[in-house]
Amino acid sequence: MKTTEEIIATNQKQKDFYNHFKQNRATKIWAKFRNGLLNKIRKNIGIQDQAYLKHKEWFGDLSNKKVLDLGCYAGNYWSIYLAENAKEYLGIDLSDVAIGKFNERLKPYPNAKAEAVDFLSSEFTEKDYDLIYAYGVLHHFENTAILIDKLNEKLAPGGSIISYDPLQTSLPIKIIRTIYRPFQSDADWEWPFSKKTYYQFSKAFNVIERHGLLGKSKWIAFVNLLPVSDKRKVKSAKNGTNRIGSNRKILTARCSVACI
Ligand SMILES: C[S@@+](CC[C@H](N)C(=O)[O-])C[C@H]1O[C@@H](n2cnc3c(N)ncnc32)[C@H](O)[C@@H]1O
Repeated sequence: MKTTEEIIATNQKQKDFYNHFKQNRATKIWAKFRNGLLNKIRKNIGIQDQAYLKHKEWFGDLSNKKVLDLGCYAGNYWSIYLAENAKEYLGIDLSDVAIGKFNERLKPYPNAKAEAVDFLSSEFTEKDYDLIYAYGVLHHFENTAILIDKLNEKLAPGGSIISYDPLQTSLPIKIIRTIYRPFQSDADWEWPFSKKTYYQFSKAFNVIERHGLLGKSKWIAFVNLLPVSDKRKVKSAKNGTNRIGSNRKILTARCSVACI
């Protein structure tokens, strides 16, 4: 398992990756599959709307909250929502290119700013966050123990974490990932949560709530390869999902975590 210094060194490569998106063919195919097919399934079976409502519920009243958007890249929909509504908002990311673009988008929000800095680095000194939001980020930390210590260091007493991450606990995704992993260009900083990772979080934090998005409908990845109509694919996905149910999970807590 790598030390903090070794991870920070690897993150220089990750920074370069996100600055230039040097994806190889296998990584591009995977991203297309994940962002295209899985997002389409989520939309078709109504999960997208559920995730939207969950975010709003979990964020709650932000007017008194100091918020860290960890690994914000150039800002997603919720980054702007947080920037607009939080008492204080800071987005951080490894990519200075993305942060440059994001700071342009943040101009209308006086309490919000973004910085290019590694969360693990001693250069990042700010702390006492009431909320740490990490969308698709926590699985980029190889050493969960180091990550947990850092999250605890940065949270205010009673603060919470909301995160959204891929799991590798579901069989169909595990199979696909195992085949794909030797070829992917971002394998050095991509660690989808295993059961062990999840237990580390649940031991360290009080997990208030967790949700998955696709449940058994992940098998649709294979059904999709079959010569059946789109209507049947959507029907079988609807049958398989637990509505925000299992697999990719959302968790929250004091020092809490959410992943989808
Ligand atoms: C999958 S992207 C998610 C981006 C964004 N949250 C979104 O919703 O589009 C993961 C991001 O985490 C950032 N990241 C990974 N490790 C980080 C670290 N140690 N410190 C700061 N940012 C980090 C990467 O630079 C990358 O932009």
